[in-house]
Amino acid sequence: MDKIQVTIMPENLQVEVEKGSTLLEAAQAAGISVKSSCGGQGTCGRCAVKILEGNVTGGEGNLSRAKREEGLILACTATVDNGPVTVEIPEASRLHEHQVLLDDDEEGLIRESQLDEEGTDDAPMVKKFQLTLAEPNMTENASDFSRLSTELKGNLDVEEITISYEALKTLPNKVREQDWKVTVTCLLKDDSAEVIRVEAGHVDTPPYGIALDIGTTTVVVALVDLASGKIVAQSGTFNRQATMGDDVISRIVYTEEEKDGLEKIQKVVIDCINELLDEVYEKQNIAAEDVSVMMVAANTTMIHLFLGIEPMYIRREPYIPGAAQYPVVKAKDLGINIIPDGEITSFPAVASYVGGDIVSGAMLTGIEKQEEIWLFIDIGTNGEMVLGNNEWLMCCACSAGPSFEGGGITFGMRAMDGAIEKINIDKDNDYRVSYATVGNASPVGICGSGLIDCLSKLRKAGVIDRQGKMQKVDTWRMREGDDGPEFVLASASESGIDQDIIISEADIQNLIRAKGAVYAGIRVMLNKMQLPIEVISKILIGGGFGNYLNLNDSIRIGLLPDMPAECYEFIGNSSLKGAYKALLSRNAFKHCIELGKSLTYLELSDGNEFYDEYVQAMFLPHTDMSLFPSVED
Ligand code: FES
Repeated sequence: MDKIQVTIMPENLQVEVEKGSTLLEAAQAAGISVKSSCGGQGTCGRCAVKILEGNVTGGEGNLSRAKREEGLILACTATVDNGPVTVEIPEASRLHEHQVLLDDDEEGLIRESQLDEEGTDDAPMVKKFQLTLAEPNMTENASDFSRLSTELKGNLDVEEITISYEALKTLPNKVREQDWKVTVTCLLKDDSAEVIRVEAGHVDTPPYGIALDIGTTTVVVALVDLASGKIVAQSGTFNRQATMGDDVISRIVYTEEEKDGLEKIQKVVIDCINELLDEVYEKQNIAAEDVSVMMVAANTTMIHLFLGIEPMYIRREPYIPGAAQYPVVKAKDLGINIIPDGEITSFPAVASYVGGDIVSGAMLTGIEKQEEIWLFIDIGTNGEMVLGNNEWLMCCACSAGPSFEGGGITFGMRAMDGAIEKINIDKDNDYRVSYATVGNASPVGICGSGLIDCLSKLRKAGVIDRQGKMQKVDTWRMREGDDGPEFVLASASESGIDQDIIISEADIQNLIRAKGAVYAGIRVMLNKMQLPIEVISKILIGGGFGNYLNLNDSIRIGLLPDMPAECYEFIGNSSLKGAYKALLSRNAFKHCIELGKSLTYLELSDGNEFYDEYVQAMFLPHTDMSLFPSVED
């Protein structure tokens, strides 16, 4: 196959790709992450690049006239067919690291996890034992493993003890290295144990485990000392699969349309996880062999892609996942960088769009133990929620679309440096806009929390009406753009991208659809139980985005129910925290399996009820103002 040389600017990085490859693939090969919300379908317009030298074929698709006039083309539809090509990838088309929800206060995390009746002591997943074996002689000539096993049985109440192939290969030398003293690491089950590591001598280092949250947007790992139960290091980054599509559907489409798509997308997330593991190992100064178990919480599609399970039926009616419970997998089978015989356990899912991340979060909240009715919401591309108490539990997923994560919004972006995250509009001062950005950098776009703020403040200043229609306000900021009326939030002179940052009426409609879907989901669940919204005594908001949410603005736009601030609790990365809690005890994980089974899934696309509620929620805050008394006041 002919190779074509592609030079990526401004880094001056050179890669060789197969003739006919797209510029998007060339960038990936060079390790550059290009925005590609639609997964390379040519429809999102986010992968714009400029050819500096050479020729490409194609490059057409959804790109504004202004961008085409600047000489930009789409990297996903442009193929390299002959001669070397030099391409510039502008800042605006690149994916960068962004705010990843880590818990700095590790003690706080422990407190929140409250090692209650499912605590650590009764049933750890892994334990290390310091043993001194009986030395063999001509009469006591049992095998090394037989003597190890006998010694272990004195410490463990199990019927069967086995040893992994890898550990067995090292056993004869390890037992003799330090005078028959060894430290063994065992994976524990209810009535068996498997030795997966033998260290010479009596070693004091604790066993370690990893809690892993694979989000559609971010991937976060927490390294846990399993002896003390403490998180000792954390690390997170954006999910590199974002270069293959922003949301779960476009990533499934990628696996269907790309040759070896499933293997490729699986490798991307595994590489991403392994990079994070290297970071936490370095922070704690340990090696991969010191880590024996990993607990994974992720949505149903992310788990399918992580484990390499065919995901295509998730997106096709009647939306069926390959499985809702997943087998325990050895690390070596996935290429995950912990000890090769270490075990990877995944949270069970409820349905195609309510995954293990929600089961993990629900377990963390303790919703299933409450007498009062609680609501747990994880707001992201899908607003997933669980409603109920100790008698019944219901869950659903409403397709909010990617707006709150910056998708489908002209200057929408994730919470990276330069993302506007807070906005104020001074109506009496020529609609002057003041804002705060992530990292205090010059503004380059608006992230989810900024968009909610923006919608609320535009409404408050009278720039938009209750339907989100732009009003004829007298300011230079209001103008007619490519997509109809638009309002300038930051001018080119103050922005970090030499362009005006605007929000258009079309963007506002997208946001209203997203917030309407979340609120409608809550109402449909309540309707099913014939309950008014006031019966909810507590609302727990989880997910990476939840922590940056402004509660007042979220209520003002009708995203969240109009309830006093004391009814709300932000619980941060509930998926990761739940994984951490389950990592500490086999009983906690068993409890999650039961919890997953006890959740009744409500399919919102079935029947008209969701649509009716959705239509009513398409106003700011809602058609029925009696649902939002504090906003009406
Ligand atoms: Fe190229 Fe979406 S238009 S990735």
